[in-house]
Amino acid sequence: MMKITTSNKKVAEAPKKYTRLVLTEGKLGHRFVETAEGVTELRFKMGKAADITPRKFIALVRDIARTAQSHKIEFLTLDVPTIKEFTKLSDYGQEWVTATLVENLIIAGYEFLKYKTKPESKTLIKEVLVCGVLNKKTLDQGIIIGEHVNIARDIANTPGDDLTPKIFGETIQKLAKGTKVKVTVFDDKRVRKEGLHALWAVGKGADDLPCFIIMEYRGGKSTEKPVVLIGKGVTYDTGGLNMKPSGSMHEMHMDMSGGSSVALSVLTAAKLGLKKNVVALIPVAENAVSEKSMRAGDIINSHSGKTIEVLHTDAEGRLILADALSYAKRYEPRAIIDVATLTGASMVALGQVASAVMGTNDKLAETLKTLGEESGDYVWPLPLWDEHRAPLKQTRADVINIHPNFSKFGGAIEGGAFLSFFAPKGIPWAHLDIAPRMDAAAHDKLAKGSTGEPLRLLVKFIEKF
Ligand code: BES
Ligand code: MN
Ligand code: ZN
Repeated sequence: MMKITTSNKKVAEAPKKYTRLVLTEGKLGHRFVETAEGVTELRFKMGKAADITPRKFIALVRDIARTAQSHKIEFLTLDVPTIKEFTKLSDYGQEWVTATLVENLIIAGYEFLKYKTKPESKTLIKEVLVCGVLNKKTLDQGIIIGEHVNIARDIANTPGDDLTPKIFGETIQKLAKGTKVKVTVFDDKRVRKEGLHALWAVGKGADDLPCFIIMEYRGGKSTEKPVVLIGKGVTYDTGGLNMKPSGSMHEMHMDMSGGSSVALSVLTAAKLGLKKNVVALIPVAENAVSEKSMRAGDIINSHSGKTIEVLHTDAEGRLILADALSYAKRYEPRAIIDVATLTGASMVALGQVASAVMGTNDKLAETLKTLGEESGDYVWPLPLWDEHRAPLKQTRADVINIHPNFSKFGGAIEGGAFLSFFAPKGIPWAHLDIAPRMDAAAHDKLAKGSTGEPLRLLVKFIEKF
């Protein structure tokens, strides 16, 4: 793992083992130069400093880290950019620049090497010496956030055979040891006893049966109501009996990205010592194919008491989230946010650039959009109207899990509309469809695979809401 160290001196005074970043204005590009003193410089041109927006800054930091990494640089040193020079960052302030710098160095320095028999053949940056540090506390917070994002990615990148529901539960319990987060895991028997019927229906076809993870962090006043975060934890999504075609299935070990990101957000909040109360609910199941799998056309019960016609077994995420939403009510939350790789349709709508946000509370959605921009975990709103909800009532049960005509229109909204039937009334609720951000795209300048999003957004939300 990349180590971040600090110095009050300038890059020019750093020991020679460090490759020195020399960031200047000019047409984007870079080259490595050996100076007469025997120092290696990474001369990086970034365009105009005054043109660097927060979005561009994040991309620039990642680009620098990935460039150094691809040239097998193990020790890098750089000066903290300042808002004097990067004027477009001044709205967010110097602390944002410092924290965002280290977060993104750490995130960009990540590779998933667990399954490489020769992991040493890949050179990672061992250490970045950050010079001219203004605020050590801010920098340390950035380190915590970056490292927790990477743990969320490790979990999401793990194949479904090695990360079954049971192992997911154990992993979270292990990670929470020694922290102020209390973890409870309902096993399959308890899942049924608690009436989490929809979760059971999705997971019952698998060898490794479903579980339900509850994480509680109480850093705030005991009288303060918590924020409840819900994360989809489908450890593998075959589609069920409505099986996915080949070519659409192999990335479905990452269908628990919402769950891993939510879990690590709570652990981050605890590590940062945020004075807030937060609860995470993670329904965990494998959507498998077997003679025990739920059938298309089955009518199942749910925790809320509403019956659901399962018209399509591949719309499983919304079923397990329905139970978690209804379970959330007992915490009397100030707000509920669910996070799920819910629909391919959200990727059709937004590309791989932003997650979709929907819900019953425009202010909450707006807050998430703003904090998304600030954190780098971008989200963009979609509507959720009664017209979208109406078709889901055309069933012999109370609700149906997809459009009765198998309509493919507005699929991301359809997912949100289904969830809205289960969101507790009167509590601000937002749904984040993170399918667009599950897998890193070229523009991300990250290792292929999980992005760990939207951890940075959720932590900011917990902190500021
Ligand atoms: N996990 C998938 C959605 C998904 C697809 C996430 C691709 C990331 C990348 C979800 O469970 C699913 O299968 N959704 C269906 C819904 C449909 C049956 C209404 C989909 O998107 O096709
Ligand atoms: Mn599915
Ligand atoms: Zn799924």
